[in-house]
Order: sequence, then structure tokens, then C-alpha cells
Amino acid sequence: MTPLDDCLALDAQDPLRGLRELFALPDGVIYLDGNSLGVLPRATAQRVARSIEQEWGEGLIRSWNSAGWFDLPRRLGDKIALLVGAGPGEVVATDGTSINLYKVLSAALHHARQETPQRRVIVSERDNFPTDLYIAQALCAERGFCLQLVDGGQVEAALSPEVAVLLLTHVNYRTGAMHDMAAVTAAAHRAGALAIWDLAHSAGAVPVDLHAAGADFAIGCGYKYLNGGPGAPAFAWVHPRHADRFEQPLAGWWGHAAPFEFTPGYRPAPGIARYLCGTQPVLSMVALECGLDTVLAAQPLGGMAALRRKSLALTDLFIALVEQRCAGRGLELVTPREPARRGSQVCLTRREGAYAIVQALIARGVIGDFRAGPGMAASGTAAGHGDILRFGFTPLYTGFQDVWHAARHLHEVLAMDEWRRPEFNQRHAVT
Ligand SMILES: Cc1ncc(COP(=O)(O)O)c(C=O)c1O
Repeated sequence: MTPLDDCLALDAQDPLRGLRELFALPDGVIYLDGNSLGVLPRATAQRVARSIEQEWGEGLIRSWNSAGWFDLPRRLGDKIALLVGAGPGEVVATDGTSINLYKVLSAALHHARQETPQRRVIVSERDNFPTDLYIAQALCAERGFCLQLVDGGQVEAALSPEVAVLLLTHVNYRTGAMHDMAAVTAAAHRAGALAIWDLAHSAGAVPVDLHAAGADFAIGCGYKYLNGGPGAPAFAWVHPRHADRFEQPLAGWWGHAAPFEFTPGYRPAPGIARYLCGTQPVLSMVALECGLDTVLAAQPLGGMAALRRKSLALTDLFIALVEQRCAGRGLELVTPREPARRGSQVCLTRREGAYAIVQALIARGVIGDFRAGPGMAASGTAAGHGDILRFGFTPLYTGFQDVWHAARHLHEVLAMDEWRRPEFNQRHAVT
């Protein structure tokens, strides 16, 4: 078994260890939920306070120009672009993930209707995050398309001549399984379909190269691995080959070519700016920029490649420790073992008590989360796993000794049947 001393040595040698200082991690907490809500960067509170007191308080309306408020979606977009293999001027930080998906999927369907009218199908994964499926269902009803849901391994086989769009989440929110973006995009293109990628669990978590993959559209979250804070603005990317060609339906004045001409007719801005809609939440944007800066602080230390190396080392260690310490306690690994097939989270399943085990861990200061398994009734298939204990590993602020202690706590919660206590078995609204 890996001794704690080995983990302390790994932390001491870790070239990224100094980045933890950028975060206000509470004492006594091992935070394994950065895949849901990233940790508060130390810079954020002061930066947002400055924005409130000086930029808003003193600068007032002048700050749209003098403090650069108006440029925030593009400026932050350029920072996000560095993390996802997009070019400058190709990404905007704006609105929410679901809303951005509505915009890019609408644009893709518009493309399909004009250029390939015989294609009426959107393919996605049955186990995709529900908001992606709901938005797709709504657009299908509105535009006369149909949504075909398949299991993860069946995606390429489903790419028939009727398929207009392949809509996938790169790293599955529940299992941590990761698609080969380049290979799947190439398969979609060979079949004549467009590929849209949801990068909610990828941006800031795993290296992404949208250009190398030849992807068509991408969207993602600001509040997970980008540490932008609860409800942070999301982002949208459209390949430059499409960006000027299609309008998205939320044609607000921020996406107009000349918003301050206040003309009555809509004329879309060139490029990605047309994916903006209305006035953006400046304070949230400012907080998101602080979060992005924490991820970009890894650039001189090797950037996403270095973060990925550490993430794989952390997740490998967690898998090994759990399998050693908790052997025979009913836990099964859901996340693929092969590094190329997983993101930055480890998901376990257990026939009984997954929710309560997570609650017992949280009471001990080990914060992960619980996700209900895909119900048989909902999916119509036995999707292969039950309820999930989900642990996200953010290499910016998670150390090897954290992993060791997390596995120890998990072992103790199971060995002492702590999870059976009634207080850990009461469901909260947010799991
Ligand atoms: C894959 C994926 N897409 C989208 C979302 C959320 O969308 P929104 O930010 O609009 O709530 C999540 C949230 O966890 C997610 O995991």
C-alpha cells in the first residue's frame, strides 16, 4: 500500500504545488468537487470588491469604457481560448452553458436545414448531461428534427446519412469517461454531420484542442474547473469557418454589428461576437477572470499538459488506494482505467448507501458528491452502473496527501458503517 510518506514526498516534488496558494481553501477540508464548483481564488474577493467600490461606485457608467467592462466577454474568451485550443477572437464568455448550447445547436440546425435538408436527426448519448438533452429536445420540436439517443460505445455506428448534428459532452459528468474528440469529430464529418462538444468537464481539466480536432462548435462552464464562482458565465466557441455564416436565434443588441448605432434592424456582428445577446453580469465576469487566471498561472509550469500529468497521477493514486483499502466493501470503479479514456474525476458505484457514504465523508471534511445512476425506467436499458460517488481532482489545489487521506476516510466510513447513521440518509435538494 502507498504509505503517507510517499504522498508527502510526491507533494514536495510537485512542480505545481505553489498554485494551491492561489486559493482560499478552508482548513480541514479535502475538496474533491471542483468538477461541480471550483474553489474560491484568493484574488476574487478583493477584485470583485474593487469592481464594486471603484469601477461601479466611482466610475459609474464610465466604467463600461474605462474599466473595460464592455470587452469582458471577448477578453475572457481569449483567455479561455488558450485552454481549449481555440484562436484569439474565437471564444466569448457569456450567458450560461445551457443557453450557449441553445445558440450553437440552433446555428448548427440552421446550417443543416440550408445545406443538407435531408438530414433531420441529432445524435447524442443517452447518458449525456440532461440539460443538453432537454435543449436538444426543445429545438427538435421547434425545428422539426428528431433526437436519437445511443449508448456511449454506439455513437459512431449511429452516424447514418440522416444525421445532421452529433452533440456530445467530451467528459461524461457521471462516469468521467472521455471521448476521443478528434476521432469522433472525424467520424461525424465523414458521415456528413457537424460536431458540437460540451466542454463542461474538460475546460481547465484536460487538454483540449478544438482546432486540431476540427470541431464545429463548443460550449462549456465557468464555475467548474475554471473556478469562476457559483453560476459563473459560460463560454461559446464556433469554428471560424462557420462563425460568420449563421445567426443564433437570441439576436440581442450585444450581438449586433454596431450596437451603439441603435438601429431598428438586426445586423449580426462578424465572428463570435454575434453569439452575445444582452448586457453581461459584470461582477460575475470579473470573478470569472480571477478563476481563469488561476488556471493560466500554470502556463509557465507546463500549462494544461502539466495539469493533466498531475491529474492522472492523482486519480491513479486514488483508484489504487481505494482498491487496496476498501477491497471487499462493495465499491466498484465506474470511470475507465485507461488514462486516454478518462477526465479528471473518479466515480465509484455501490449497490447500497452511495448517497449516505458521500454525506458521511462530507461530515469528515472530504467533499465529493453523489449522482443518481441512470434509472432503468428513464433510459430503457441497464446502463451498467448504479448510483455514483463522484470525486473530482483539481490539480491546481489538490495534493497527493489529500488523496491519501480521502481514501483513508472512505475506508473508515465503510469499515465502521458510519454511513448508516440516520443523519447521512436524509436527502438534500442539491446532491
Ligand atoms: C456536461 C454539462 N453540461 C451543462 C451543465 C450545466 O449547465 P448550466 O451551467 O446551464 O446549468 C453541466 C452541469 O453540471 C454539465 O455537467
